[in-house]
Amino acid sequence: MDHQEHVRIIKGLMHYLDTDTNVDAGGQARNPVSSYLCPDIALKEWETFFQDYPHVLGMSADLPKPGSFLTNNDLKKPILCTRDKNGEFHAFLNVCRHRGTILENESRGQKNLFSCPFHAWGYANNGNLITVPKENHFGPVDKSCNGLVKLPCSEKYGLLWVNPNPEGEIDVDGILGDLAPELESWQLNRYIANSETTYDHSMNWKLAIDTFGETYHFNTLHKDTLANDFYGNAQMYDTHGRNHRMMLCLRNIDTLRNQPEKDWNVLLAALPIYYIFPNIQLILGQQGPTLVRVYPDGDNPHQSFSKINFYLSPELTEIGIDEEGKKRYESAQERMQGFAKVIQMEDYVAAASAHQGMLSGAQEYLTFGRNEPALHHYHNTYREALGMPPLERISN
Ligand code: FES
Ligand SMILES: [Fe+2]
Repeated sequence: MDHQEHVRIIKGLMHYLDTDTNVDAGGQARNPVSSYLCPDIALKEWETFFQDYPHVLGMSADLPKPGSFLTNNDLKKPILCTRDKNGEFHAFLNVCRHRGTILENESRGQKNLFSCPFHAWGYANNGNLITVPKENHFGPVDKSCNGLVKLPCSEKYGLLWVNPNPEGEIDVDGILGDLAPELESWQLNRYIANSETTYDHSMNWKLAIDTFGETYHFNTLHKDTLANDFYGNAQMYDTHGRNHRMMLCLRNIDTLRNQPEKDWNVLLAALPIYYIFPNIQLILGQQGPTLVRVYPDGDNPHQSFSKINFYLSPELTEIGIDEEGKKRYESAQERMQGFAKVIQMEDYVAAASAHQGMLSGAQEYLTFGRNEPALHHYHNTYREALGMPPLERISN
């Protein structure tokens, strides 16, 4: 992000604070509750967004060195991601070609050779079948066509992208559009993976996404937590194709008012949250990013889960150098985990409550305000991707 953009965002936020105004979607919109409850829509979403679309399964830091691997079942397909000896990223179906057993059962680790637990066929981390025990008993196996099934994958801008459909496409730059150079500018490949947590929730997956879409709720739902650090009702908002960037307003913005513009850094005034269609929220804290991935439980519209991964800047992971370094590391960790707790105990509780409210049949529509443009955008992109008409606008 160039300095001009830092200044534009900071000035925009200050303007909203000073004039008691906010970003404006240009009108209200009505979203039918069927968008969250209808099994047919849930099935279409599952097939369209989650079974044949490039997904961010982690950050480069999740495969920190040659020989690193991770497994993933979030898309209800067994996926094995590896980094080979040349540092190249690969993704495969985590399935032995002999009799179909899941090849690797650990969630992450270091391995150059994956040995099947059933009969010990062995695969290199570039997917090649290397060993077939007792081939003189078994009969000859053409190793050249019995490697692991490759999935389209790409490592770009510090993110690990995989399409779970072996025949599917992967065009990361096409997906990101003009967001790509901005993500690149944050050098997301420099961070260190810290920890991962999973929350199960009894609600439609889009309700979890919606909680990241506005700051209208900060002074009520988060009055004792996030409202201490953030101004609610002020945000800068920009769309990038199906993706967007929200800038939440930190109370610390006021410290910049007496500083020369040339010294302004947007991270001192705002918290950037990037939404990447369909299910990613990438939050860029000062001490490192947090990656939130939200998944439906297959085609069930009433159940979903979130994976939240924390990353820290390399400077902070140099623990043990001195007491001060250790304190900074621990406080960064606590801060990130505290933020995740707010998501779990406040946002997701309110969102699950909304799911129950909708199930009661109280209303046919939810209303998205002028000050909630991300909600308009999320739902219009979902609808567009499923061939549905845009949300109905309420003229006002
Ligand atoms: S199923 Fe993997 S070696 Fe037999
Ligand atoms: Fe929230």
